[in-house]
Amino acid sequence: MKETDLIIIGAGPGGYRAAEYAAKQGLKVVVFEGAEVGGTCLNVGCIPTKTYVHSASFSEARERMAQVVPQLRSGVEGILSHPNITLIREKGIFSAAHTVGDYTAPNIIIATGSDSKPIPVPGIDSPKVVDSTGLLSLDTLPKRLCIIGAGVIGMEFASVFHRFGSEVTVIEFLKECLPALDSDIAKRLRKQMEKEGITFNMQCGVKQIADGEVFFENKKGQTESVEADVILVATGRKPRVQSDFACVGFDYDERKGIAVNEHFETTVSGIYAIGDVNGRQMLAHAAEMQGIHAVNHIIGKEDNIRFDIMPAAIFTSPEAACVGPAEDWLKEQGTAFECHKSFYRANGKALAMGETEGMVKLCTEPGEGRILSAHIFGAHAADLVQEVTAFITLGATLRQLRETVHIHPTLSEVLIEVN
Ligand code: NAI
Repeated sequence: MKETDLIIIGAGPGGYRAAEYAAKQGLKVVVFEGAEVGGTCLNVGCIPTKTYVHSASFSEARERMAQVVPQLRSGVEGILSHPNITLIREKGIFSAAHTVGDYTAPNIIIATGSDSKPIPVPGIDSPKVVDSTGLLSLDTLPKRLCIIGAGVIGMEFASVFHRFGSEVTVIEFLKECLPALDSDIAKRLRKQMEKEGITFNMQCGVKQIADGEVFFENKKGQTESVEADVILVATGRKPRVQSDFACVGFDYDERKGIAVNEHFETTVSGIYAIGDVNGRQMLAHAAEMQGIHAVNHIIGKEDNIRFDIMPAAIFTSPEAACVGPAEDWLKEQGTAFECHKSFYRANGKALAMGETEGMVKLCTEPGEGRILSAHIFGAHAADLVQEVTAFITLGATLRQLRETVHIHPTLSEVLIEVN
């Protein structure tokens, strides 16, 4: 048995960033990865989909994905070639609490990610049914695409495949898309996508899939159906737990993932679980920051990473992005707050770009006090939300945001134009 300081299972954004950071702090790190390095994000998630979003056609997207993904993957391989890191190209399997493969370490970080979660309906195993990975590996553009689930994955693919020319129909269980988003923003985004020609069947439950036909019950209890060449199931993801985890002794659940405390440590001391596998915030950037915090905890270094301030974006066209609590949630909690809005149509840069569809909503403490949250729908929403994230993290007020000089003409001026 070989000894090391830290074992990391999984080389996705959580795992490889933690390995890089730990190695720079002087730890000897062993990383186990059974598939390509880069995880879901780089190989079949964020990066390929963003390549699609920024391509003019399906064929261009396929070509660009074939260049971008290997290029980034070799970048990750470069990171993992640090002298303090040993990359073992096999699946990491526990044989005891602190032993994985041929290695033993006082600290272990599990970063195994997640898998798509299928729905239990008859016909789900039809060859026309794919998950997001399957959709990204299609060689031809489907003429008719049916998407089950109007969450983040469903909405991003609906937007991009519609732009490529597919006839897109979305079936969603709930009343509104993107359940985690501020409902005002979610509704505007769906309405805009409807206006562009995407069909949404809201409050509809899928009952059966027969060959290329999806049968669902509408809100009136009637059965309807949609015919499609490809059916994307985007009804959520589940933490990737392994059967060998049982021998370690920490608490975990097949559905909710591995239970962790505020330092992402499991119920067994020295064993951490970061990223999608702990089921907290299924976002690549959350996984990265959780990994850094876990390493800091291991080496006894304090940090002030604010996991309660987690920006997120949906890369539809236009984008939607948010940070902090939705207006609906603040109302439900009875929190005293103010809501400030502005619109892209009054912004010079947005007009010049032909991107006038968009809205900014900032929730603040009363009296233009501390900024609590930002919800944005429109071009480059993610970049604008990132600016507000910095202000919220620093505890800044709306007044301080307004008093910060913004370059003219930029979209960022929409932030200081809020009413
Ligand atoms: P999701 O949880 O965002 O949305 C799933 C949707 O499917 C929900 O609206 C739900 O009501 C609906 N649904 C569930 N069962 C259904 C049924 N039987 N019939 C109709 N609708 C049904 O899950 P999604 O989109 O699969 O994404 C998985 C995870 O990946 C999320 O945690 C997401 O945050 C993350 N992700 C993040 C991205 C980003 O940050 N840009 C991009 C892609 C994924």
